[in-house]
Amino acid sequence: MTPLDLWLSRSIPMCLLLQSLVLMALCFPSASMCPKGCVCQRAEYPPYGLNVTCSLAELKEIPSDLPADTVLLQLDRNQIHAVPERAFQDLRMLRRLNLSHNSVETLGESAFVGLETSLELLDLSHNRIVSVHKDAFARLKARVLVHDNPWHCDCALQQALGGMAHNHEAAARVLCRSSELRDQEGRPFLAVDADLCNLARRTTDYAMLVTMFGWFAMVISYVVYYVRQNQEDARRHLEYLKSLPSKPRKPDEPEDISTVICALLL
Ligand SMILES: *[C@@H]1O[C@H](CO)[C@@H](O)[C@H](O)[C@H]1NC(C)=O
Ligand SMILES: *[C@@H]1O[C@H](CO)[C@@H](O)[C@H](O)[C@H]1NC(C)=O
Repeated sequence: MTPLDLWLSRSIPMCLLLQSLVLMALCFPSASMCPKGCVCQRAEYPPYGLNVTCSLAELKEIPSDLPADTVLLQLDRNQIHAVPERAFQDLRMLRRLNLSHNSVETLGESAFVGLETSLELLDLSHNRIVSVHKDAFARLKARVLVHDNPWHCDCALQQALGGMAHNHEAAARVLCRSSELRDQEGRPFLAVDADLCNLARRTTDYAMLVTMFGWFAMVISYVVYYVRQNQEDARRHLEYLKSLPSKPRKPDEPEDISTVICALLL
C-alpha cells in the first residue's frame, strides 16, 4: 500500500461521517439550539425533555426560540414585563414554568394557551401583577403561585381565581393591595366575603335606574309644558273668535269646529 492509498482509505469514511453530522445538524436545528442566555440540559429518563434554565439572564422578554421539547423552564429573576398571548403554545411538554421575580403587570386571556394538559406548576410570585383577564387561568390544571403581587381585588380576579383548579390555595395567598371595597385593602382575598361581581352589577343597575328616572322626568315636564302652552294659545284664539262681530247663524249650520276644540281644551 502506498501512503496515498492509506490516506484515502482513512479519509473517505471520515468525510462521510462529517457529511452526515452536518446533514443532521441541518435537519434538526431545534434539537441543538438553546436560547441566548439560557442553559439547556437533556434529561436521561423519559420523556427525555429539556431543562431550560434562563434564571438571572437579564431577559426583558420571553425568548421566542424556546425548544419545543422543553419540560422545565426557569425564567425567574429577570426583567420580563409581559407575557404575550400564546407565548408558550408550542411547548406541548412543558410541566413547570417559573416566572417568579420578574416585572409582569397583567395577564391576557390566552397567555397560557396550549399548556392546559401538560403544565403542573406555574410560579408567578414576586411580580407586579395588578390584574388578570378573567379567563387567564381557565382550563389550566396546574398549581398556580400568585403571592407577592400588588393585586387589585375586583370582579375579574374573583372570576380568574374561580376558574383555577387549585383556586383555594391561590386565593389564600392573594393580598389585596387595592380593592373595589375600601375595607378590603391590605386584607387577604379569602377574607373578602362580598361578591365583587354582584357589587359591580348592582352599581350598574343603580346608574341605569337614575338615568331612566331622569329621562322620565324630562318627558313628563315637556308634556306638561306643551299642554300649558296649547291652553294659552287656545284661550287666545277663543277670545279672538268672541271679539268677531257675530253674524246671524243659520239653523242647520254646525258650530265652528275651532270653537268646539277650544271649549274641549279648556
Ligand atoms: C431537570 O430538572 C428537574 C427538576 O428540577 C430535575 O429533577 C432534573 O434532575 C433536571 N435534569 C437535568 C438533566 O438537569
Ligand atoms: C422559582 O424560582 C425561585 C427563585 O427565583 C424559587 O425560589 C422558587 O422556588 C421557584 N419556584 C418553583 C415552583 O420551583
